Order: sequence, then structure tokens, then C-alpha cells
Amino acid sequence: MSNPLAISGGKPVRNTETDPWISWPQTTSEEWESKIEPLLKQVYLSGNEGSGGTMIKRLGEQYAQYSGTNYALFMPHGTDSISAALAGALDLDGFSDGGEVIVPNYTFVATASAVLERRCTVVFVDISPETFTIDPEAVEAAIGPETRAILPVHLGGHPADMGALQEIARRHQLAIIEDCAQAHAAEYQTKKVGALSDVGAFSFQASKNLTSGEGGMVTTNDKDIHDRVCAFMNVGRAPGGARWEYPRLGWNYRPSEYLAAILLVRLELLETQTDLRNRNATYLSNALDAIDGITPPKLAPWVTKHGYHLYCLKYNPEGFGGKSRQAFVDALSAEGIPCSIGYRSPLSEEPGMAYVAEKYPHLIRSLPSPNAASVCEQSVWLFQNLLLGSESDMDQIIEAIAKIHQAWG
Ligand SMILES: Cc1ncc(COP(=O)(O)O)c(C=O)c1O
Repeated sequence: MSNPLAISGGKPVRNTETDPWISWPQTTSEEWESKIEPLLKQVYLSGNEGSGGTMIKRLGEQYAQYSGTNYALFMPHGTDSISAALAGALDLDGFSDGGEVIVPNYTFVATASAVLERRCTVVFVDISPETFTIDPEAVEAAIGPETRAILPVHLGGHPADMGALQEIARRHQLAIIEDCAQAHAAEYQTKKVGALSDVGAFSFQASKNLTSGEGGMVTTNDKDIHDRVCAFMNVGRAPGGARWEYPRLGWNYRPSEYLAAILLVRLELLETQTDLRNRNATYLSNALDAIDGITPPKLAPWVTKHGYHLYCLKYNPEGFGGKSRQAFVDALSAEGIPCSIGYRSPLSEEPGMAYVAEKYPHLIRSLPSPNAASVCEQSVWLFQNLLLGSESDMDQIIEAIAKIHQAWG
């Protein structure tokens, strides 16, 4: 007789009270004393806590070098990085109709709300059911006379099909803005995300694989886009321009030196952490592949490095005696493995978006998204901090899923 499931009163595979998962961000007194504190002290004593200091500049230079782009501009959030990227790529002031931007219908709300915030129309299209990223064929079918840009999201850290998107963009003279909020360090063939299009937008919000609590970054190779983003985020000033001169229209999206200092320390760890997440994810996938009813994440052939912000597997009740996905998530959580169903519906169906579509029909065009709908019904997400554990931590994830499978299958 197998061990009863924790959800039915049995002993969990992992007792998270006595044996918690690695928390995120990973913080240690040693790192504070040796690395973070001296840099924060340097900012504090410099008297330059805003954009006049050296940390933001250094972070921009290092992030550009890391990403393989000419420029990287530190921002307060990922959402405003997308807004700034759109403003820069499409030369938008936000007052007139900005045209249509094609967005995947499986993403975080900010991908679309940033488009709306720039007064562009969101065109929701379907995703590939394998990679959870925007489907190039759906993009091509959605293009109309008002279309100006494609906004792929490297969902969960899996790079979108950028080769196909670049080819479509070239033919239709469209800009591409990459939403890299969940994909730090991910690589498409030989390049990092954020360097694969006109402009990339990253987030450093608390859950992200590189974080300062809040923060964002815009990356680009294009000097004109760089200059427009600088103006957008710095009240219309030209880069390096005079303080009281405003050649363009802009807002204040300037970040803090303190956050840049923290990111400078954490950026050094990103590559090693990403490699560990990749090793653990491969180990997990190899084992989970053998469990009927579980489909581990599939990597497209162009992925040379997954960002693994999320480990997105698919659950099929047929392998688990017909038990629902919610029952599985509840049972797995009870076994001490934190997990989530992820986005509950295609973004176009979220009440906030449905409200906009009804009140301002010209601002949202939703195309059929059956793949996004079925991914919303099947996906189970494990979060990136779990992938920073040891091989025996991975064994516990496998053991817990196998235990549920045995009990129900
Ligand atoms: C895909 C995606 N885009 C954009 C954002 C927005 O970033 P932020 O929360 O830093 O504004 C996030 C995360 O929060 C995200 O997951």
C-alpha cells in the first residue's frame, strides 16, 4: 500500500516548514557585508542618489554588454520599459492613435496594458501550444493596414520564434518590440533576448530572475530609439542635454541609484544561476517525461539557453484517473511542492481587457486563440527558485508527482 497523499492526511514528500525551498531573492549576510553594503554606502556618501550618479550608468553599460546591445537604459519597472520601448520604436507621443500592435493572448497583463497606455490598439493573437509563445502564422494572418508592430513575449524564459517574426516584420515593414520580462539570460541561437529586434524590455520586479524589488531595462542597438527612450524617461531632455531644455515630450521614469547598485551585484550571478536552472530543468524533464499525463516543457530547436523563469508543464487528467488540474495542483502543493495553474484565461478574456474592448472597441481586436485557451486549461507552473535547488530537491518534485500519479492513475 502506497503512502497516502498529503492532501488526504498522509505525510508530505517535503515538509516545507522544516525544509523550506530556496527563497527568492537569495540573500545572505555575507553578500550584504562584502558586496551590497559597500555599494549602497558609496551611493549614500556620494550625494548623488538620482540620475547624476555612477551606478545607473555602470549598470546600463554592463547590461548592454551582457545583452550584446549598444545601449541599455535602466527604468523603474518592466511595464514602463515596454511603454518606453514602444514610444522609442514607433516614435509615439501617446496622444494620437498609435496604430495596431500584435500581442500574444497568453501573457501577463502589462504586455497589453503598456500598449494601451501608448494609445495603440492591442491585437490579441494565438500562441504555439508547444512553446507558449506567439504563433508567427497567427501574426501574419492578423496584419492589416493599421499594423505597426509585433510584441512577442519570451514566455517563462522560452525565446519566441524570432527568425520567423523577423522575416514577417521585414516583409510588412513592422517594428518588433521584445517583452523579455520573464527571460533574462535566455538565448535564441547565438544571441541573447533583447538583442533580437528593434528594442527589448526587461523587468526586475521581485519575482524575476534578476531583481531589485522593482525595476526595468530597455535594450536597443538603434541610436534613434535610444535617444527617444532617453527623452521619454527624462522629461523630454536629449541624452546629455541641458537641464532646462526639452527638445521632445517626455515624462519622469528615472530610477534610483540604490536599485542600480543592487542589480550590479546580482547581474554577476545571473549566468551561473541560469545554467543551474537549465541543468535542473533538464533533469526534471527527463524523469517527468515517463509519467503518463505529464508533458514537460518542450524546447524549440532555436533555444540555446532557456531563461526558466517558469517551468511550464502540461497536465492531462487522463493520466491521473480523470482528476482535474486544480485537484492536481492542490495535491502537489500539499506534498510541499509550490505550483500554480498560471494564467487562468487568455488575456483578452480577463475582465479588465473585456471592459476596454466593450467600452473602446477600436482599442482591442481579439483573434481566435484556441491554443492559448487550451494552455490555460492544461498548464502547471513551477517557479524559478525551485530550479535553484539540488538534484535531491528535483527528486522530491519527481517523487511527489509520481506519488500522485500512483494514487490516481
Ligand atoms: C511578461 C511580462 N511583461 C511585463 C511585465 C511587467 O513588469 P513589471 O511588473 O516590472 O512592471 C511582467 C512582470 O511583471 C511580465 O511577466
